[in-house]
Amino acid sequence: MKLFNVSILTSVLAMMAVVKGDAEEAAIASPDSAVVKLTAESFESFIKENPLVLAEFFAPWCGHCKRLGPEFSAAADKLVEKDIKLAQIDCTRERDLCADYGIRGYPTLKVFRGNNSPSDYQGQREQDAIVSYMIKQALPPVSLLEDTADLLDALADLSEPMILQVLPPDSKSSGNETFHLLANRLRDNFRFVSTSNPEYVEKYVKEKSTPTYIVFRPGEKTEDASVLSNKTIDEEGLQSFISVETKPLFGEVTGATFQAYMESKLPLAYFFYEEEAQKAAVADEITKLAKKYRGEINFAGLEAKKYGMHAKNLNMQEKFPLFVIHDLQKDLKYGISQDKDLEFSEIPKFVENFKKGKLEPIVKSEPIPETQEEAVYHLVGYEHDKIVNQKKDVLVEYYAPWCGHCKRLAPTYEELAAIYKNDTAASAKVVIAKIDHTANDVSGVEITGYPTILLYPADGSGPVSYEGQRTLESLASFIQEKGTFGVDGLAIRDATSDGADKPESDTKDSTHDEL
Ligand SMILES: *[C@@H]1O[C@H](CO)[C@@H](O)[C@H](O)[C@H]1NC(C)=O
Ligand SMILES: *[C@@H]1O[C@H](CO)[C@@H](O)[C@H](O)[C@H]1NC(C)=O
Ligand SMILES: *[C@@H]1O[C@H](CO)[C@@H](O)[C@H](O)[C@H]1NC(C)=O
Repeated sequence: MKLFNVSILTSVLAMMAVVKGDAEEAAIASPDSAVVKLTAESFESFIKENPLVLAEFFAPWCGHCKRLGPEFSAAADKLVEKDIKLAQIDCTRERDLCADYGIRGYPTLKVFRGNNSPSDYQGQREQDAIVSYMIKQALPPVSLLEDTADLLDALADLSEPMILQVLPPDSKSSGNETFHLLANRLRDNFRFVSTSNPEYVEKYVKEKSTPTYIVFRPGEKTEDASVLSNKTIDEEGLQSFISVETKPLFGEVTGATFQAYMESKLPLAYFFYEEEAQKAAVADEITKLAKKYRGEINFAGLEAKKYGMHAKNLNMQEKFPLFVIHDLQKDLKYGISQDKDLEFSEIPKFVENFKKGKLEPIVKSEPIPETQEEAVYHLVGYEHDKIVNQKKDVLVEYYAPWCGHCKRLAPTYEELAAIYKNDTAASAKVVIAKIDHTANDVSGVEITGYPTILLYPADGSGPVSYEGQRTLESLASFIQEKGTFGVDGLAIRDATSDGADKPESDTKDSTHDEL
């Protein structure tokens, strides 16, 4: 399982890319641009009359809207000749209209196709990206090209990967349906073309009647394209082929590509560089590795001047160039030692050792405490697996120092820990632990929020996630119920307290906190 937070990383990358400012930015498009300003009165008819509209719902004061303004206007001007309209709706004036479309943040961009069910715009927010995104929206998801000249044309100057279906006229497979299905889903990222051109059938279809799929990548030779021919190919198989083969051999991690690398789930080998020359110097070597490990490891450069902070997420220092492999499935990170400058010649051997499982991951961890002072066991990354796998029922709270819910839980959690810790029999069976998840790596556990509380029963059947109320009684019952030993913490507490100074309940409910 994974525990890295894709959305956080993406927004860090996106934020870092947007640091440049511009004094002349305004959210509202200038009157002489092609952007159409819509109101509640004009909206419906405009959407009906125009087959393809990109609508921006915005507020004049919003910073992202100001940055988008000039880009949006420029894109509108460029799209005039394609008869694609760009429109703006000022949500500070048209509250009802914006509410009707469920607008919650600014700017929100939606694509309308002549009716009231828009789809979300998923491109980048700058003019060229808007233009190419919208031109593509105007095309059918799959282009049918039968002329050899048209096919050569399409291949001549690729700006994005192209997936070509060569469909023999007597094809009996369901590949064509699958291809159209995927084209609909992935049209924003790739170009989909289908042909039954006899020359192409002759050249690519090796097995009679079997549709063949070819991925052409921008900037690479046509002969290097990847070919798939499989009579029984299904949706999953074709999608995975597309996901793997559309990646450039030695690509680039940016705000725009990061998500696709994460989604491919393959280990990602990063080369962080400060100068283009450094990337050029390793390009041949890394391309060779990328060919060898195609479909097993992705290789990409990352511009350290823009995104260097990302090194920390990978447990590396911001010292460049650097080479690090992130195993996304296990969330483990393997980097070439930064004790001395990176020698490019070390990279192939390092990758080979990674494949063979011979490398030790770089674990981020606090040092192991020399003594455990408190009832709650202070757990760290180095010890995590050992402690949760001992033959005891181990409850672990994964927390972040800044998390308010975690701070509120702390006194209850300490009290809970003391119950078992103070009792000789119970302390041999139950451990209550906490770990600062921002300072310690833990592998194989999915943490999506703080605090996350998991019980690792002694019999190794866990972990079991705790979803109940964060009260002492509820936590203790959970340990009794789900733990292997069924230790009854509440009974121990009641037996040891003399009853005089602890009437009824010693869990404070929230109303008492205020007194
Ligand atoms: C391929 O599938 C599409 C979409 O379902 C369909 O329109 C087209 O006619 C099919 N082509 C062939 C040759 O079956
Ligand atoms: C063909 O595709 C099917 C379904 O995706 C897959 O199970 C099978 O392994 C593939 N065959 C080959 C030879 O790749
Ligand atoms: C645990 O034991 C210590 C010392 O024996 C005592 O001060 C403390 O009150 C006990 N805590 C609980 C919850 O019983």
